[in-house]
Amino acid sequence: MSPNEKLVLAVSGKGGVGKSTLSALLVRSLSEKGIGPLLAVDANPDSNLPHLLGVQAERTVADLTSEMKEEIEKGTLPPTLTKKDLLEYGIIKILKETPAFDLLVMGRGEGEGCYCMVNKLLTDILDTLSRNYRVTIIDEDAGLEHLSRRTDRDVDVMLIVTDPSSMGFRTASRIKEVAREVHLEFKRMYLVGNRFSPDQVPLLEEKAAEMGLGVGGFLPHDENVFRLNLLGRPLLELPPDSPSLRAAEGILYRIGLLGDRE
Ligand SMILES: Nc1ncnc2c1ncn2[C@@H]1O[C@H](COP(=O)(O)OP(=O)(O)O)[C@@H](O)[C@H]1O
Ligand SMILES: [Mg+2]
Repeated sequence: MSPNEKLVLAVSGKGGVGKSTLSALLVRSLSEKGIGPLLAVDANPDSNLPHLLGVQAERTVADLTSEMKEEIEKGTLPPTLTKKDLLEYGIIKILKETPAFDLLVMGRGEGEGCYCMVNKLLTDILDTLSRNYRVTIIDEDAGLEHLSRRTDRDVDVMLIVTDPSSMGFRTASRIKEVAREVHLEFKRMYLVGNRFSPDQVPLLEEKAAEMGLGVGGFLPHDENVFRLNLLGRPLLELPPDSPSLRAAEGILYRIGLLGDRE
């Protein structure tokens, strides 16, 4: 990745395949390699990326938009500011800043149509916001909504995570298809295996080829991840030699976010 390049990377896949785990590992690997500034975005209604990254996000974009909706209804919005201005101002305030990365949590919209509104806003906000960061990592919602509503318009790299199961592969394939149907032009799209053993890699390669996807690599099952999850501890506490962390770094090399390995 060239020094001035700005990149938006989205992590998608079936629920429970390891999207949030991979997202957190990528944030950690990139920050350890001195790539920054970094923005992590949790786009799941059931947000857990803050927890994995060891931070607490008190307020979400959904909170912000529902407050704004109320103000619109009550007619109490300041007339001199546009909704977009107000929203951008609000976003800066709820952005969680840490030395290693910033975090934005989309949250769960309440009421009919509200989550759509949040989704729509995500597109506009990320457009502007991600320009301030070297890499933006979006931990996507498990559904396909984000694709069909084209909220991923400006994603450069899409990682589709699958576990070694037919369900995982089927969802991955569906994601690829929906992206094609709505003419989303991801510059690069990769299939990433999670909880794969080395002998299952040929299967990953075969499936990726069938789907017309590149292979982004794989994460092994990692006892350290399992243990931290059980203890409710963030993945930032993973020992540096943890297999999944080393594998996440390998993925970053493979998809070109880190330079060529010597
Ligand atoms: N490589 C791995 N090794 C061990 N446990 C894992 C691994 N990947 C994911 N997990 C565990 O599996 C569960 C689901 O992972 P998660 O990242 O939350 O999935 P998703 O975000 O796709 O719903 C979590 O409890 C997580 O700790
Ligand atoms: Mg998740």
